Parts: sequence; C-alpha cells; structure tokens
Amino acid sequence: MKTIYIGLLGCGTVGTGVARMLTQNQDILQARVGAALKLKYVADIDIQRDRGIAFETGVLTTDAGSVVRDPQVDIVIETIGGLGIASALILEAIDNGKQVVTANKALLASQGNSLFHAAAEKGVELAFEASVGGCMPVIKTLRESLVGNRIQAMSGILNGTCNYILSKITDDGDTFEAALAEAQRRGFAEADPTLDVEGADTAHKLAILTSLAYGTHLNLKDIYVEGISRITPLDIEIAAQFGYKIKLLAISKNRGNMVEARIHPTMIPCDNLLSSVNGALNAIMITGDAVGDILLYGRGAGMMPTASAIVSDVVDIARNLLAGAVGRVPVLSYQRSHIHSIPVMPMDDIISSYYFRFEALDQPGVLSKISGILGTHGISLKSVHQKGRKSEGSVPIVMMTHLAKESNVQAALSEIYRLEVVSDVPALIRIEDANESA
Ligand code: HSE
Repeated sequence: MKTIYIGLLGCGTVGTGVARMLTQNQDILQARVGAALKLKYVADIDIQRDRGIAFETGVLTTDAGSVVRDPQVDIVIETIGGLGIASALILEAIDNGKQVVTANKALLASQGNSLFHAAAEKGVELAFEASVGGCMPVIKTLRESLVGNRIQAMSGILNGTCNYILSKITDDGDTFEAALAEAQRRGFAEADPTLDVEGADTAHKLAILTSLAYGTHLNLKDIYVEGISRITPLDIEIAAQFGYKIKLLAISKNRGNMVEARIHPTMIPCDNLLSSVNGALNAIMITGDAVGDILLYGRGAGMMPTASAIVSDVVDIARNLLAGAVGRVPVLSYQRSHIHSIPVMPMDDIISSYYFRFEALDQPGVLSKISGILGTHGISLKSVHQKGRKSEGSVPIVMMTHLAKESNVQAALSEIYRLEVVSDVPALIRIEDANESA
C-alpha cells in the first residue's frame, strides 16, 4: 500500500488536534483513502510539552524549514497562524512542490491572491477548509456541492467569540467583559481578541467566502466592518421585546456587477434560523438560484472540529495524488481565467431597514423634531417607542424604519445628534428581515 507523508507545522491547539486525528483514526483514514497517511514530522518551537500523543522517535522537530524541504514529504499542514513565518513556510513548501493545507484565514484574506497564484504556477494544491467556520464544510459546499448554482446571498455567524459574548449577555445577563474572559478561557478567542470583537476575524472569513461564491479576487480592504463592542445590554433587551436577536452577521449579496460584503451587528427576527445559533457555534445560510436556502451549522473553532476540516483537506489531496488529479477542483471554485475584480458596493449605497435608539429629553416637540429630520432624508418610520418616562434627564426613544439608504441614514443621524435635546450618540443597528428586504 502506498504511503503519503505529511509534515505538520505548528503543534498548538489545532495542530495537536490534527496529530491526534491522524494518529487515532489512522485505520479509517487508510480504509477511506486507500493509502497510509503517515505523520512524518511535527514541527514546533516547543517539543517538550506533553500533548498526549505517543509520537515516534524523530517525528518532533524544532526545524520547520527541514520539513518543507524534505523530498519525501507530500503534504505540508500549516497550523502556526499569523502572517510572518507561516507565509514564508507556505511559500517555501509550494516552491518545493508540496501540497499545502492551512487554516490561516488572516493570511489567506491578506495574501491569498499571491499564495494561490504561487500554488497554481507550481501545480500544487493549497487547501483551506478550516479557515472558515471550523468543522462546517462551507468551502466544499460553495466550491463543489453548489457548483451549479448562482450564489445570490450568504449570511453567517462566523465568529464564535462574538456569538458567545452576545448569547451570554442575552441569555444569562453576563457583562461583555465577563463573557469575553470566558471565551478566552475556553480557547475560542484569537490571541488578540480585538480581532474577534471588532469584526476583523469575521472579515477575513467573509473575504474568502465572497471570493469563492462569485469568482472575485480576495478583497479584504473594501469589506465594511463593525464589531460588537458598542452593543449595549439595553439594545439587546429592547431587541428581545420586539422579537429580535442581535447577532454579528457576515452578509454578502450578489448585486450583479457588484457585491455587498459587510459585517456588523444585525437584528434578526426570532423566527430566523440564525437567531437560534447560540454560544460559540457558527452557522451560515447560503442562497443559491437552484437550491434556495441551505444552512450549515456547527463548531466554528476548537481543537477537534478544526482538525476535522484540516484532515478533510488532507484526504482530498491524498485522493487526488493517488488519482493523479491534483488541481482537479479550482482552488477558488472558478477557473483562474474567470476570476475578476468585482467591486464591493460602497456602504453608503446599501439599502436596509434600521433600529435607532436616541437618548433625548422627555419634552414636547422632541419626537417631531427627530422624525422630521428622518422624514427630510426620505426615511420612513415603521414604529416609534419611548421607553420609560422621567421628570428630568433623557429617555430612550426607539425607532424602527422601513427600507432606507445608508447614506441618508448617516446624514440624518448626524443632524439628529446635533440637536440640543439629544444627549448621546444615537445607537444604530441594521435589521435583516425577510419581510422587508432589498
Ligand atoms: N476566534 C475565532 C472565533 C476562532 O471565535 O470564531 C475560529 O476562527
């Protein structure tokens, strides 16, 4: 039986999961692939730590360079993370003709175009199922299962840390800080958790998915990104009273010669399936012209779920190597000659419905001033509520709108904030509701 040799770079949480799966499930992998998948090297700066795996002598090494240069290694798995050394090692592995598997969404989102180019020039695979949504097979779904569809839209919860924080505030009344600390303790959060809470991690993932769905070059810089740090418990509570949940959604819509690609806290009705995705779980709804909606749901982070996605890439590559079919499935789903630069719609031009909360004095004429400004900007109100009543000081005034243009909304809110009776920056949350969609 043929043996396929694997070199693993980085043996932290995810790398350890990969080593564990390749070792413990060796028998079923061999039965499914028709070849032995042999972990020849595990490279890490720390090779003393006990990872609970009985590695054979000579497997552990601190010399990652020797792994990507060993002629016997067929597949290199990168689970180091970050941009610097991981990028250099992937390029060297490609240059040496290795097939590469990575979970590194930040690297792909920022350098993917050149890495994919390098892999294609060399005729090797660069696989990345684990980069988005952990164990959810979203890359394979877009690239293979839905290949006959025009993708119309995607809407996903792609960051477990943010979803965990929002769920803990909503369901258990936790503070933002306590929920984030718990997410860090449980190991979902990035080393720098601002990547999670300010939305950058979700943007990396949406850049990858948007490219796959529509055949566009990866374009991280034009994605609108707004994280969850300004969401207050009061807005979560008010949203619940009106039958909504607040989720950090990655939204991508096919607008013909443009795409929408945006990340922001979003109010979704409680009957939307995504509103039931709680804790650190991820989910994505993909809409295709043939299939309608499909929903993927699962663990978006963690040792074994992420390892499962990486091993699925290893098996795909191993099968392709055995069949002499490397490159059979184009890395970004489209043939390279059909990948274009599709512009991302400027945020000012998107159409959405909105939730606003104004902190305003409880005085005669205040409501009409605010609604008057909204009216002059062409924003039509669906509902208006004043929360509570005070003899002095400000009260929250909550408004929900029909569909409106973002630029008009921003102009109106700046004008309203300048009113003397308004005491704080207005809260704005976009609403995605099937009953009112552009
Ligand atoms: N920090 C990420 C999350 C890990 O919270 O979802 C998986 O990409």
